[in-house]
Amino acid sequence: MHKFPLKLEKRLEIRKEQNSLRTLGTSNNLIDFSSNDYLGFAGNRNLFFKTEQLLKEQEMCKNGATGSRLLSGNHKLYPLAEKEIKNFHGAPAALIFNSGYDANIGFFSTVPQKGDLIFYDELVHASIRDGISMSHSKAYKFKHNDLEDLKKKLKNITSEPTSEIYIVTESVFSMDGDSPDLEAFSAYSEKGNYHLIVDEAHALGVFGEKGKGLVQELGLEKKVFARINTFGKAMGSHGAVILGSHLLVQYLINFCRSFIYTTALSPPSVAAIISGYKLLGEQESNEENIEIKKLQENIRFFKSEVNRLKLQNKFIKSDSAIHCCIISGNDEVKNIADQFQDKGFNIKPILSPTVTKGSERLRFCLHSYNSKEEITSLLQLLADLPINT
Ligand SMILES: Cc1ncc(COP(=O)(O)O)c(C=O)c1O
Repeated sequence: MHKFPLKLEKRLEIRKEQNSLRTLGTSNNLIDFSSNDYLGFAGNRNLFFKTEQLLKEQEMCKNGATGSRLLSGNHKLYPLAEKEIKNFHGAPAALIFNSGYDANIGFFSTVPQKGDLIFYDELVHASIRDGISMSHSKAYKFKHNDLEDLKKKLKNITSEPTSEIYIVTESVFSMDGDSPDLEAFSAYSEKGNYHLIVDEAHALGVFGEKGKGLVQELGLEKKVFARINTFGKAMGSHGAVILGSHLLVQYLINFCRSFIYTTALSPPSVAAIISGYKLLGEQESNEENIEIKKLQENIRFFKSEVNRLKLQNKFIKSDSAIHCCIISGNDEVKNIADQFQDKGFNIKPILSPTVTKGSERLRFCLHSYNSKEEITSLLQLLADLPINT
């Protein structure tokens, strides 16, 4: 048997010592305050059958895409999906990727060029950071949601007259649930002729009319250079889209390696994306399609219960479906999460190094299908626990 490299073994040992070793759990039947399935679309039977029907109507009863989109994989559901998505989001063009991770590493490793500058929020998702680290441009982080810090950093850095400047943020931060002042960021970017990129992974299905996202809620779609939406969260399926100009999409098709050198999504996956968008479009058209309304009611109720139980100082301020309670220390937060699991709630501890040491947290994800009773019992349990924040 091959000997496992000692250096790697040591890294695993350190993880164990820090009580931060990652292991794969199995899904359970606990009350869901953990998944990203904000609207219940992943388990929505109606949506499943609509997807099946669409595949049959389109005579696309196929299991796989058979190749990259530039070779044999660009099956006819792709243009249908991209048309539906760009219209829904009021964007000139849309390009589907296999995942949000692929979209972000592809975009950031391909678009900013040598000599260009990237300024990114210090808490952006790992996929953005990985893409930036693969890029040939220089990158600087600014303090979380802090436009003044961004301005200061930008002022202090000399750029070439030919440098393009890219500013990167998220409309909802995945491990905090909070949002930047997107209107201020976009006004600043517009004034300076900078390119603003917004990852909307956790805003799609949550903010805006019919869940179109925060950029559209604020009417900023013409002011951003690119938006990244992912389908593994509120859409309940898999994949992602980059929204932007026709030229941006043409450029990505030609140069973006995570788009080019991979097998395309299968017809069932793309059909699920189309059906998901149709279901978003039908929100509040009848008494059944009210998932977004229910989610928003639950967000409001959760926040009012947090206040009633005087827990507000423990939580990061958020209007999204993600609410985080800071509990310092991996041991402490794991122990508290276990107590929630024992009482039947699926709550995940977020450990360092995923978040910075000392800011470990419990992450509560809210859904359209959580009941008010579940929310109250959950928060009552939190209020009853002796917690060091
Ligand atoms: C903000 C953000 N962007 C991108 C991604 C990656 O998306 P995907 O899960 O589709 O790869 C995630 C997922 O965790 C995310 O939270």
